[in-house]
Amino acid sequence: MKPEENKMEKIVSLCKRRGFIYPGSLIYGGLAGTFDYGPLGVTLKKNIENIWWKMFVENREDIYGIDAAILMNEKVWQASGHVDGFSDPLVEDLKTHRRFRADHLLEEAGVDIKGMSFDDMSKVILEKDLKSPDGNKLGPVVNFKMMFETRIGADAEGGQVSYLRPETAGGIFVNYKNVYDSFHPKLPFGIAQIGKAFRNEIAPRDFIFRVRELEQMEIEYFIDPKNWELEFENWRKSIWEFADAVGLPRENVHELEIPDADRAFYSKRTIDFEFDFPFGKKELYGLAYRTDYDLGRHSKASGEKMEYLNEETGERFLPHVIEPSLGVGRTMLAILSSAYSEDTVEGETRVFLKLSPAVAPVKVAVFPLLKNKPELVTKAREIFVALRKEISGVVYDESGSVGKRYRRQDEIGTPYCITVDFDTIEKDNTVTLRDRDTATQERINVDELVKVLKNKIVLN
Ligand code: GAP
Repeated sequence: MKPEENKMEKIVSLCKRRGFIYPGSLIYGGLAGTFDYGPLGVTLKKNIENIWWKMFVENREDIYGIDAAILMNEKVWQASGHVDGFSDPLVEDLKTHRRFRADHLLEEAGVDIKGMSFDDMSKVILEKDLKSPDGNKLGPVVNFKMMFETRIGADAEGGQVSYLRPETAGGIFVNYKNVYDSFHPKLPFGIAQIGKAFRNEIAPRDFIFRVRELEQMEIEYFIDPKNWELEFENWRKSIWEFADAVGLPRENVHELEIPDADRAFYSKRTIDFEFDFPFGKKELYGLAYRTDYDLGRHSKASGEKMEYLNEETGERFLPHVIEPSLGVGRTMLAILSSAYSEDTVEGETRVFLKLSPAVAPVKVAVFPLLKNKPELVTKAREIFVALRKEISGVVYDESGSVGKRYRRQDEIGTPYCITVDFDTIEKDNTVTLRDRDTATQERINVDELVKVLKNKIVLN
């Protein structure tokens, strides 16, 4: 087994064991492509989302946050082109009837699929006599629609068709006019949204990398088309800033300029941000210049005017759009896979997550040296209660030995542990402050703790 494959297994196992991520519907045997976030996972996820929201909504005057409905009028997805065009190439094993992504099978066979139509893929499969992973003949490549369809209402005809949104962007475009009418922003301005999206992926895989129920952090940034190059460049840099803020190592993030033939027809430029995941270099985020395609389609289909009036020049035009689209789950997987570390401490292998304090679900753990000494427990709880008023993500733990508590905190990525010992209460009011990455300890006066920790958590 390759070490990187092994690493993925270790991450999946740690995530389940320690309450980050569980397979969805586990007690009923699971449901492929779905995962449930446990207590630590949901906190890590919220920390990621909060960094994004603060960076792009709270700290900016030009971006408006929204939270649109997941169920939308089917006309939204007809206008956007998803009803007809949101599909993946599917091939079926003619013997077992198992279904696969044709592009994945071709790539695994060393075929460069860039620019290939579904017909081209069928031809190459025939020419090369490619077999399914089970060794059987494959059928032709067909269109597999990826939107989850549902019906709304209880009338006899079966109600109105609706879809679980396949991207959060749709909710943004239909709210462009609402936000414009409420706030009268000048260009450039953006609308941001974090939320769930649903895709009936043929082959969900690689843990939370490709799932059927996902979460996106998307911005549609409306611009004057004259400035698209400058605005695109600004967003390219902003994505790097976000990756830095959540602690992704720069050397593991790569830009891939998507060539003309592979871009959606309405996109004038697309950059995929890729990440070195344990299973290979794969897409982390997308940045696209979508022109006025979306507003144009929605304006035409709905009959609503969506033009922008430049009050200084009197010019009227449909704004163009730059779209930075970031997956929450992929961010989390990139963070977990780059943070997963092993070293040797006191002769024993130690597993630790080198999470940035900005995203770590637990930032500080407070322990009494011994749990059967009431004076240590009282002091430790006093410190714990005082700290949690000032810092989020503070926990108290007294079970097992201090060594075991350190290991447990290391494994979930807690950057700092504080231990109250006899010196604290009998000598100098100091505690030990242990650093996760170096496993070294320093003594800090209790009165200084909040200041020292806040500095460390911000500085890191
Ligand atoms: N609105 C544009 C859009 O949705 P996309 O490239 O299909 O573009 C954007 O998706 C991002 O959403 C991806 O870069 C990835 O981070 C995330 N994503 C897409 N499909 C996913 C899936 N099945 N599972 C997990 N994340 C996914």
